[in-house]
Amino acid sequence: MIGIVLAGGNGTRLYPINSYLSKQLIPIYDKPLIYYPLSILMLSGIKEILIVCKNNQKNNYYNLLGDGSKFGIKLTYVIQNEPKGLPDAFIVCEKYIKNKRVCMILGDNIFYGSDFVSKQIIKNFNSKKCTIFAKSVFEPQRYGVIVKDKKNNIVDVIEKPLSDISNLAITGLYLFDDNVSELSKKLTPSKRGELEIVDLIKNYLENDNLNLEILGRGVAWFDSGTFQAYMEASNFVKAIEERHRVKIACLEEIALNKELISIDHLKSTIQNLASSEYKDYLNNIVKNY
Ligand code: TTP
Repeated sequence: MIGIVLAGGNGTRLYPINSYLSKQLIPIYDKPLIYYPLSILMLSGIKEILIVCKNNQKNNYYNLLGDGSKFGIKLTYVIQNEPKGLPDAFIVCEKYIKNKRVCMILGDNIFYGSDFVSKQIIKNFNSKKCTIFAKSVFEPQRYGVIVKDKKNNIVDVIEKPLSDISNLAITGLYLFDDNVSELSKKLTPSKRGELEIVDLIKNYLENDNLNLEILGRGVAWFDSGTFQAYMEASNFVKAIEERHRVKIACLEEIALNKELISIDHLKSTIQNLASSEYKDYLNNIVKNY
């Protein structure tokens, strides 16, 4: 399986910051936003990851993450200069996807909770299908939603519904089979000029190839598109980290626990770091290893 982190987009709701910096590089409490979606892919055992970003941000991402070797993974940067919609990622990444299954996560989505990692849904995904993850929300009109009938069958997926038809929002984590690039190329742009992920998902629904995983109370989900959402997510991360003295989405720690890097590898990473609270945290991991 190959992973994709979608880190392009215009981030218009974050003006003026978006005029010089990609929103997935802005900190959520003590680390850049992109660390959180990357951590989900790494925890799910994905080692080959494509980062889709704008050309003028590629150096920033590279300075932060490099080729991934410090985390024991392989990162490749794929350029998408115009935000043509989420399925466009499968078109610009086509030559890397080839016959692989794909796990795509939006670069501004944060998931916390062991549910889907411990259930190994991502790791075990091995079918000619699409799996989406939904969560009940207060403001479904901001999202794509799942509509079910009385027998609990999925009957429709709707982008930003105007009525209260469903409160089950589709989160920014998707699993697709190796047909996804071909299907994406057949989509036509919507009225807002983008290829729509709901249209792609509908394609799988119509062919009876859609799986739904509902994320329960054990999972927190944040979609960080606004300053308010950044603040909420930052406060959440701060509360957990201070209370439990563990970091959420510390990529070096995950890499060590998943045996993607050795303890010596981590020690050499630490040697190159200037004094910081993050360095102290990593040193503590080495001490207790
Ligand atoms: P959005 O939040 O839908 O869009 P945006 O990030 O451009 O923000 P705004 O609405 O404020 O202009 O995007 C969700 C995620 O997907 C985000 O991480 C950016 C990414 N994205 C791409 O990488 N390429 C795209 O074509 C689109 C539409 C989004």
